[in-house]
Amino acid sequence: MGKYTAALVPLKASIARVRVETSNVRTYYVKLPDGLELPKPGQFNMLYVHGVGEVPISVSDLDEESRVVAHTVRFVGSVTKTFELLREGDLIGFRGPYGIGWPMDAAYGKNIVLVAGGIGLPPLRPVIREVARNRSAVGKLIILYGARTPEDLMFSYEYGDYESIPNTEFYVTVDKPSEGWRGNVGVVTNLIKHVDVDPSESYAFICGPEIMMKFAVRELLKRGFKTNKIYLSLERRMKCGVGLCGHCQMGPYFVCKHGPVFPLWFISRYFWVDQI
Ligand SMILES: Cc1cc2nc3c(=O)[nH]c(=O)nc-3n(C[C@H](O)[C@H](O)[C@H](O)COP(=O)(O)OP(=O)(O)OC[C@H]3O[C@@H](n4cnc5c(N)ncnc54)[C@H](O)[C@@H]3O)c2cc1C
Ligand code: FES
Repeated sequence: MGKYTAALVPLKASIARVRVETSNVRTYYVKLPDGLELPKPGQFNMLYVHGVGEVPISVSDLDEESRVVAHTVRFVGSVTKTFELLREGDLIGFRGPYGIGWPMDAAYGKNIVLVAGGIGLPPLRPVIREVARNRSAVGKLIILYGARTPEDLMFSYEYGDYESIPNTEFYVTVDKPSEGWRGNVGVVTNLIKHVDVDPSESYAFICGPEIMMKFAVRELLKRGFKTNKIYLSLERRMKCGVGLCGHCQMGPYFVCKHGPVFPLWFISRYFWVDQI
């Protein structure tokens, strides 16, 4: 089998655990099939539900020792909605890891600002884990996270862990508070005022709905971040995941292969154009 053909054949993978996150989001812990590389922060895998279809899903956590990889899936359409039926012990098709993730090597020695909206936190969570594990490698870590309502917040059970990482600030906000919510209210970009770092010594990693990323980029540019220090994780419809089919094309780039994480300066001609 050639390199590309092999890359398109899903391997069987077993679901080790399912965790309910919100009413329409669950995390699937999957044992990485033998022979596949461990994913890096920001990479994704193609998950195949037998007889239904395949979707790209980012890695939201990784246990290197047991080779169990987490994927946090929001049920939005024909494939992802069938994830709701999957249980521990079920088999799915699995291929990956694919794409270029967050530039951790470049960010070592600098500050990192994470801006996440909604289901944008899962692809950034491996960055938080990596910084926590290797704390002296990075300067300040600032995490800004927003969701529509308190019920939509991802991973609220581990916010205490984020806050206890040394030299880390964690801010969370919701668009619409529910009764009993005592935290910030408003869009996540309002939190950018808390970014108190030298932009020339810092990287910003952004993931969330495209409109939120546009506003976040504008705010960060106003605060002096340069386009080579702002990285975004983009979502496009995907089929092959390996740069063959063209489904995910954006200008001259294939999001699956040249991304999904791009520095802003790479894509600024396309990023501001709607529906491209
Ligand atoms: C690199 C990459 C990483 C991704 N990581 C994750 C992840 O970690 N977790 C996750 O839940 N999703 C992630 N996605 C998005 C996920 O792949 C899509 O939600 C999925 O492919 C939708 O397929 P479907 O068959 O369920 O929906 P479809 O049947 O294709 O779509 C049905 C309806 O849902 C809408 N829809 C489709 N995609 C989205 C979307 N992303 N948001 C809102 N509405 C949508 C469509 O417009 C349509 O109305 C990622 C996508 C990419 C490209
Ligand atoms: S999904 Fe086929 S080229 Fe990107």
